[in-house]
Order: sequence, then C-alpha cells, then structure tokens
Amino acid sequence: MIATISPPKQFRGTLEIPGDKSISHRAAILGALAQGETEVEGFLEAEDCRSTLHCLEALGVALEQQGAGHLRIRGRGKRLREPEGILDAGNSGTTARLLLGLLAGQPFPATVTGDPSLRARPMLRVVEPLRRMGARVEGEGRRLPITIRGGDLHGVEHRLPVASAQIKSALLLAGLYARGVTVVEEPQPSRNHTELMLKQMGAPVEMDGCRVAIAGGGALKGGRIRIPGDISAAAFFMVAAALLPGAEVYLPGIGVNPTRSGVIDVLQEMGAEIAILNRRRYGEEPVADLLVRGGAPLRGTEIGGELVPRLIDELPVLAVAAALARGRTEIRDAGELRVKESDRLAALARELSRLGVSLRERPDGMVIQGGRPLTGAVVESHGDHRIAMALAVAGLAAAGKTIIRGAEAIKVSFPCFFQALRRLGGEPGFVDTPGGAC
Ligand code: S3P
Repeated sequence: MIATISPPKQFRGTLEIPGDKSISHRAAILGALAQGETEVEGFLEAEDCRSTLHCLEALGVALEQQGAGHLRIRGRGKRLREPEGILDAGNSGTTARLLLGLLAGQPFPATVTGDPSLRARPMLRVVEPLRRMGARVEGEGRRLPITIRGGDLHGVEHRLPVASAQIKSALLLAGLYARGVTVVEEPQPSRNHTELMLKQMGAPVEMDGCRVAIAGGGALKGGRIRIPGDISAAAFFMVAAALLPGAEVYLPGIGVNPTRSGVIDVLQEMGAEIAILNRRRYGEEPVADLLVRGGAPLRGTEIGGELVPRLIDELPVLAVAAALARGRTEIRDAGELRVKESDRLAALARELSRLGVSLRERPDGMVIQGGRPLTGAVVESHGDHRIAMALAVAGLAAAGKTIIRGAEAIKVSFPCFFQALRRLGGEPGFVDTPGGAC
C-alpha cells in the first residue's frame, strides 16, 4: 500500500488511541494461564496481538472476541494443550519470545515460527537462559523456527546484558513453572507490565529496582483487565501536534507507566507543550490524559543511558522531532534498534535523508543536525510499522507530498493510523491511502 501525505491545514481534536500492544499480549497470555475467566477491555485489535491469540487458541485456550476491544478468555490454569501445527508469531517479537517462555513450562514439544522479518531476529538471548532453566531446544536456537520441549524447570538467576522486557517476561513466565525462585536482573529497568499484571493476578512476584523475582508453583487468578491507550501509538500524534503550529490534540486514557513514558520527558525537554492531566490507574497501570499544543519551537537534545529502554519504540518518531528541532540531537546506547522489525537506525538514516534531514548514523544511534526544512519525497517503510508512521509524521511537516511505500506495515500495531490522522486534519486529501486496513 502506498500512502501519500501532505501538510494539513489544521491538526486538532480528540483521539481515542488503541489499547497498549505490550499490555494486550500480556493480558491474553496471563488470562490463558489463570484460573477462571478473564475479561479484557481495551484489547488492541491489530495483527501482532491477533498472532498471540491464534497461538493461544492452538494451545487449547478458549477465547471470545466481542468487538471493540472486548476479549473474554477461559483460563486453563497453567496447563496448555499440545498444538497440532506450528505456532506462527507473524511479525511479533513479543509473541515469539513470551511464547518460548511459556512453552518452556509445558511438558510437550512445540515449534514457533514467524514471518521473514521475525525469522531474522535474534532468539538466543531467550533460548540460552531457558536452556539453563532446563528447557530443551533443538538445534542452535539462534533464529526461528525453534522447537522447544519444556517441563521440569528449575529457577535460575539471570543477568540480562541489555535491558529487554521480552526476555525478562519470557523468563518470568517460565519461572511460574520452575522449582524454586527465578531472578532476572537488568542493567536498566525495562517496561514492567508483566510484573504488574502477575502481581494483580496474585502471583508471588517481587520487584526491586532492576531486579525481579518470581517463586515457582503459584497460581494466577482471572479477573478484569482494563488496558490503557498505547503511549507508543500516541507518540506519533504527540510529535505531529508538537511540530504543527496551531495544533491541539487531546489524547485521553494513555498509559503513562514510568517505564514507558520517556517520550513525554524528552519532548518536554525539547520544548514541546504537553500537559499530563487526570492521573489515575487502570489496575496497577498509571494512566493520564495528554494535551499537546503545537508551535512552540523545539530544540535538540541528548538521548542515552537509562532513558533508552523507557522510549525504545519511540526513537523513530523522536528522530523526526529532532530533525525539525533547532540544533543537534544525539541518540546513543540504542544499538537494539538494529534488531527490531527492521534495522531502524539504517532505515531512519536512509529515509530521513531522502526528506532532506542532515543525519549521521552511528553503530548505537545517530546524530541529527536539526532545523533544516523537510521536502516531500518517495520513502520506504522497510516493512516496519514504526518507520512507516514516523515517516508519515515527517510528511505532515514536509513541503509538498511525501509518498510512503509499504505503508501496510502499520497493520501490526495501528490499523486505523491513517484514518486517525485524517480525523485530526479535518480536510480530505492530505492523507491518501487506498482502501485501508482499518
Ligand atoms: C516489548 C519490549 C521491547 C519493545 C517491543 C515490545 C514488550 O522489546 O521494543 O516493541 O512488549 O515486551 P525488547 O524487550 O526486545 O527490548
């Protein structure tokens, strides 16, 4: 799909952002392992989460989707059923890695695969600690497809070389089945949605800074889970609104868990006008309404260290903000971007250059010399949803037309993204997408 974007005459309104992708995966998986029913509200209806649901169904979990983000899960109380076929995680790294952790606890073999992008992503980082816990994985285990046979696990203490919520979560899921205590330690804290949900469901989990511990053998209690709006999806509209003079965008019910909200801190630091209103909680998850006003001049900044895991998925759109900010922005300690749905550092360097951005790629980040006007061009999503949406935001601020090839990549996390842009722009024609996956 090709999307054509030009600058809108206005950018105003209220937008309901779809449910958080990370939390949706966890709600489905933990609901499947719980005793009794779990009712989920705000479940993200997009391909990545659908991949998780299909895999869970193949493992014997009964699910009922009742439209508009309602999902009912009949928990199996930790015992899943041997699947008949291969489990396909599609494009979703979270599905694949969390599933490997879950399968490590099951006394049957199962094979997980994914699409070509996911089959190119590193898996040893999850396979190696699961092996230490007693899971058997055929072959090298570097890449999908991976066949794993679990059961008879024992707790380990594992130190992650790089902060990763996917690996941490996989080990906590395996830890639920292990004898003794499983401890995961990270160099910086990554998103803690798994821990918070496990706690809400009654699992014996203990959090202490960069360390989390779970005692094996505990049961999970089903219940109600309300999922906040996805800050990673909201970020595209936050940056767009910040960049466009006269813009005013209200984003109600966004998850502002501090392990995820680095994008707000950085945009505020750059000079953007963002108000955080009506702070509250959905279960254990902090939520707020965000009001973003455009037009304040942005200045360059530095992003590195502890901040990186708190905004890892927002770096593509923050690079767009940096391109339009006055002065230099340096992104470092973000080598993980090279092993996401695409090599995001290479993809951004190539595509933002086409729009006229002055940028230097580094092994673990980039330096952007901001403040030059952008000019529309033909750009490529690299099959990556967040690259496609970041380029669309750049297109709103670039002179002329920006043509995004491979724009269908958005379907994995935000199928109605272009419709949402159109709603705020208030005029037909500045966003042109045929049909649409929405
Ligand atoms: C996610 C964790 C992050 C993030 C990904 C979603 C999760 O990946 O980039 O989009 O839901 O746990 P890593 O765990 O590899 O850092």
